Amino acid sequence: MAQIPEATVQQSVGKRALQRRDVLRACAASSLSLLAQRVVAQALPALDQDQDVPYVVTPQVVVDAMLEMAQLKPGDRLIDLGCGDGRIVRTAARRYRVSGLGVDLDPSLVRRAQQLAHDEGLQAYCRFEVRDLFDTDLNHAEVITLYLLPAVNLALRPRLKALKPGTRILSHDWDMGDWLPQETRMVQAPDKPVGFEKRSNVLKWIIS
Ligand SMILES: C[S@@+](CC[C@H](N)C(=O)[O-])C[C@H]1O[C@@H](n2cnc3c(N)ncnc32)[C@H](O)[C@@H]1O
Repeated sequence: MAQIPEATVQQSVGKRALQRRDVLRACAASSLSLLAQRVVAQALPALDQDQDVPYVVTPQVVVDAMLEMAQLKPGDRLIDLGCGDGRIVRTAARRYRVSGLGVDLDPSLVRRAQQLAHDEGLQAYCRFEVRDLFDTDLNHAEVITLYLLPAVNLALRPRLKALKPGTRILSHDWDMGDWLPQETRMVQAPDKPVGFEKRSNVLKWIIS
């Protein structure tokens, strides 16, 4: 599985310090396949100055798999870091009646997520905020979902590892370096907007 050397990440990732060139440098120094590096590079021109990750939607079939693997229970709270149109939080609310928070740096995406939650009658369960994921308190969630980039996952890793026992972390496609997941699932995703293989990997960690 693709891994980026920890030292590279420590040099290049900080709060809002991850720039396009840093991501590309980290990719080049990593064991990511050439194909994966090309996918990242193609996506990066869309990266605005503060963003650590470009906007790419998780296909609904992958959202469904992530939430199934999360084994949501009544009373669980979910946080999606970099929520885009809020589809992970909204699906958790609709299917499992679980409360969720989605944060994103892009105000237009946050407004869209809020509008969709309103239209779907899910406002009581869903909260969306314009917020930096590195400034988000993760302690009030039992489930954290991520569709970020390998270097951003690694930058979050120490905070994720410190969460309360039983917290589940689900990542779309990207791993956590040498912190191995407890479960992985390959999902066919014909409408995936990036990559040629049209499938996604879902990885799950449970904090012990
Ligand atoms: C790959 S998209 C994932 C969207 C959504 N979670 C999904 O799976 O469909 C990553 C999102 O992270 C947001 N983002 C990038 N850097 C961020 C940061 N530092 N804090 C919060 N959101 C960020 C982007 O605006 C984008 O919407």
